Amino acid sequence: MCGIVGYRGREGAREILIDALRRLEYRGYDSAGIAIWNKGTVRLARRQGKVSDLAEAIEADGFDGPMGLAHTRWATHGVPSERNAHPHTAADITVVHNGIIENYLELKETLKGQGHTFTSDTDTEVIPHLIASLLSKAGSFEGAVRSALRMLKGSYAVGVIREGEDILIAAKKESPLLVGLGEDGEHIIASDAPAIINRTNRFIFLEDGDIAVIRKGDLKITNLDGDEVTREVRSVQWSGAMAEKGGYRHFMLKEIFEQPRAISDTLIGRIEEEEGEVFFEELDLPDIAKVRKIWMVACGTSYHACLIGKHIFEANLRIPVETDIASEFRYRDPILDRNDLVILVSQSGETADTIAAMKEVKKRGLHTLAICNVLGSTLSRECDGVIYTHAGPEIGVASTKAFTTQVSVFFMLMIYLGKRLNVLDSDDARRLIGELRKIPHKIQTILDASSSIEDTARENMHYRHFLYLGRGINFPTVLEGALKLKEISYIHAEAYAAGEMKHGPIALIDENMPIVFVSPRDQTYKKTCSNMEEVLARNGKVLLFTDDARHDMAKRIDALFVVPESIYELQPILSVVPLQLMAYHMANLLGTDVDQPRNLAKSVTVE
Ligand code: AGP
Repeated sequence: MCGIVGYRGREGAREILIDALRRLEYRGYDSAGIAIWNKGTVRLARRQGKVSDLAEAIEADGFDGPMGLAHTRWATHGVPSERNAHPHTAADITVVHNGIIENYLELKETLKGQGHTFTSDTDTEVIPHLIASLLSKAGSFEGAVRSALRMLKGSYAVGVIREGEDILIAAKKESPLLVGLGEDGEHIIASDAPAIINRTNRFIFLEDGDIAVIRKGDLKITNLDGDEVTREVRSVQWSGAMAEKGGYRHFMLKEIFEQPRAISDTLIGRIEEEEGEVFFEELDLPDIAKVRKIWMVACGTSYHACLIGKHIFEANLRIPVETDIASEFRYRDPILDRNDLVILVSQSGETADTIAAMKEVKKRGLHTLAICNVLGSTLSRECDGVIYTHAGPEIGVASTKAFTTQVSVFFMLMIYLGKRLNVLDSDDARRLIGELRKIPHKIQTILDASSSIEDTARENMHYRHFLYLGRGINFPTVLEGALKLKEISYIHAEAYAAGEMKHGPIALIDENMPIVFVSPRDQTYKKTCSNMEEVLARNGKVLLFTDDARHDMAKRIDALFVVPESIYELQPILSVVPLQLMAYHMANLLGTDVDQPRNLAKSVTVE
């Protein structure tokens, strides 16, 4: 995610804002910028790269003053570059923004028609142009900002200043933004507390629709209609390290809890339920009517997302899908047809084996599509097409929100292709989109009820071996659950298709190895119940994750966690969340380095 900060106080905005940006660096970014206001004049500097480069540029300029805005950019629209970095300006308006403006293309066309010229590829740049276009009609700077915000669809946390006006305006809708109350009437806005915890621990957390109007020593908060609202001032007692993680103990836990927002952001601007349509901007695909086979290639967690993507595609498109681990694919001289579509999935977009697989495919002239979370990464730049997950920076080595957003993209892509292949009609699409839209809330329901998972973790953390069992689309789910446990707790965990139990793993079962089952009420539910009986008959411990609150084995097993129901194709996104949490809590209780587990890197950029 981008990070924004703004300041109105005594002199010295420049140093305070640069320091705040440094405190936001952990969030991940690719460029940074700053604007300083002094006696009505605004000076601006932007750099692709590090905050330190920006600091040098603005210090060399020597300009300083009592007010300013600054920004670290984590690109979602428009590759990382100086011209796409914030702040963005139009006329005498300067803006920094975090979020996704869903209707920016139509606003941009309208503003171009009014004579506005744009210099960046970002969605953000429409905001200062829109405000500038409304100044005369609104009659005031504040009024123009209010009118502009009402026209925006999507999510925003914005800071706005104007030459000649000693006013800093901040506004929030779905993206976080707070106002810090410093000493001597100092006001600081920030995406989250870490940026400014060194200057104050008194914050107002703005709510959706709030507009904060800051003048020297004065703060007024209104709603979008201009009516004043009262917001509670809260004191936050966080350490610096805790603050960086937004109050969570580890980035992994924060990212598990970010999944509702991450999936919502990944859907924004791409689904239209009433019309039963999925949109992917600038998606360059081959003539899919000629596609006879689809490949899905990745590593690790991203490979598990591919295994689920296979189920989603084959169940609805009836096109054969072959999945492969990138490090296998690249060396086995795969039998490819020029009309095959190859989808490569990578959170980082820098995994060496996945990039090598992509190069092998391109060498043979096939079409490549990336599903990636990092704009401007190697994979996203070199594939013929790319669909971004908008999960925001994933800092924890163990991938969580990237996985659930990847599966969400596969589901949207299935609808997109199904409509174009005429295997899905608008009613099908409306139904499927309707189920997808419910997922963020269903995950939130799981998170809100997840306290029992820590107990389950505590009761089982002393075991040294776990077996995870699932069937069908939930076999990849248990592969992912087992990977989470082993990579952060260092406990041996392996996953099997539950139907394979009698072909070997059943020999392992005894009271020393818990068996984790993922078994929603789908077509294999009864079969998996039989597997659980076989485990119980051998004194095995059963930990069951299901959508059946009245499971008739509930009283005979060691742990039961119920997730909300969903359709077959989306069920793994729900079942994986308690598995992520169980792995997290075991690792945390065991005291391992959850965010940087031993021997692991966030992105395996070497073979
Ligand atoms: C998952 O928790 C691991 N960190 C690892 O398996 C990871 O998924 C794999 O290295 C692939 O990374 P990528 O998605 O960035 O390509």
